[in-house]
Amino acid sequence: MVETNPFVTVQVIAGGYCLPRCLHVVADLGVADALGETPRTAAELAASVGAHPDALSRVLRLLAAHGVFETQGDRVSHSPASRLLQTDHPQSIRAFARMFGLPVFWETFDALDHSVRTGLPAAAKVFPEGFWSYLSQHPEAGRVFNAAMSAKAHGAVAGILATYDFSDFGLIGDIGGGSGHLLHAILDAEPGATGVLFDLPHVIEDAASLASERLSLQSGDFFCDALPSCDAYLLMEIIHDWGDEESVAILRAIRSAAPPHAKVLLIETIVPSDSGPDWSKMLDIHMLTLLGGRQRTREEYEMLLAQSGFHLEQEMDTGAGISILEASVA
Ligand SMILES: C[S@@+](CC[C@H](N)C(=O)[O-])C[C@H]1O[C@@H](n2cnc3c(N)ncnc32)[C@H](O)[C@@H]1O
Repeated sequence: MVETNPFVTVQVIAGGYCLPRCLHVVADLGVADALGETPRTAAELAASVGAHPDALSRVLRLLAAHGVFETQGDRVSHSPASRLLQTDHPQSIRAFARMFGLPVFWETFDALDHSVRTGLPAAAKVFPEGFWSYLSQHPEAGRVFNAAMSAKAHGAVAGILATYDFSDFGLIGDIGGGSGHLLHAILDAEPGATGVLFDLPHVIEDAASLASERLSLQSGDFFCDALPSCDAYLLMEIIHDWGDEESVAILRAIRSAAPPHAKVLLIETIVPSDSGPDWSKMLDIHMLTLLGGRQRTREEYEMLLAQSGFHLEQEMDTGAGISILEASVA
């Protein structure tokens, strides 16, 4: 975002909501899929995806000004960022872009003032059934969300595998593991290990094809169902979904199930101490608004772990925008 003076700083932020909205719509329409290696006109793309030619061309002009697509005259071509919106790109984040445009996200942000006034998740006001129940009751939104979780994890999974040595573990539990992308990648890299994917029933149902001799599926609720006894527990972007009280409840449930030698790996984007822009600070407002959760500093995670019977051993930066906090039983 280019800021030239204080007026522009405020102007760009105040009116800037149209930029992400354009991205959501273009990702929904599948414009990146309709554009191959040869540049096409906006009118050709509009005809392919069922859009209005002039409106689409203006939306693409805006996105291209921010690095998503390139435009030259009336011709549109891919930029490195727009390629990531292609469904079959190996690092595709189309689902991740679509997720932020789902009604459960966008309409919740319309009620952000409720969160700011009360400290409570705005989602609970707009969608009283709660975020996770909403996803279970709206299967298409649930599928977009789960696909988005796999998509956002492409880089993180590679960074985690390059950073952490999983070779000592027999059974690895991925708690709230979604579609099992992290666990599956770890088991691929560690042929001696087995895994158990634990998540809510509708998520485990959608992950059925993943089950194998080495990867079992367990559906349940980590607030009331027994967790498996594992040598290591992965919690990737789980604790950030919850307030401190619920976070301690989840970690204590793991503590009850864990043998004394078990390790717990919290995999989270840590809030840095400096005041500059950082994705963790945006994610933090998403957690506040959607779930009543929060992004935390290393010290805040250390305190939660200590209250739950664990000792933080080390923090490892994966270099992929996410850190591993390794804890052992205290
Ligand atoms: C933010 S997603 C993270 C998914 C995955 N760990 C990742 O990082 O890609 C949170 C996950 O927690 C699961 N979840 C939410 N509430 C749960 C509960 N009460 N019991 C078990 N899993 C739950 C969701 O279904 C979802 O898969």
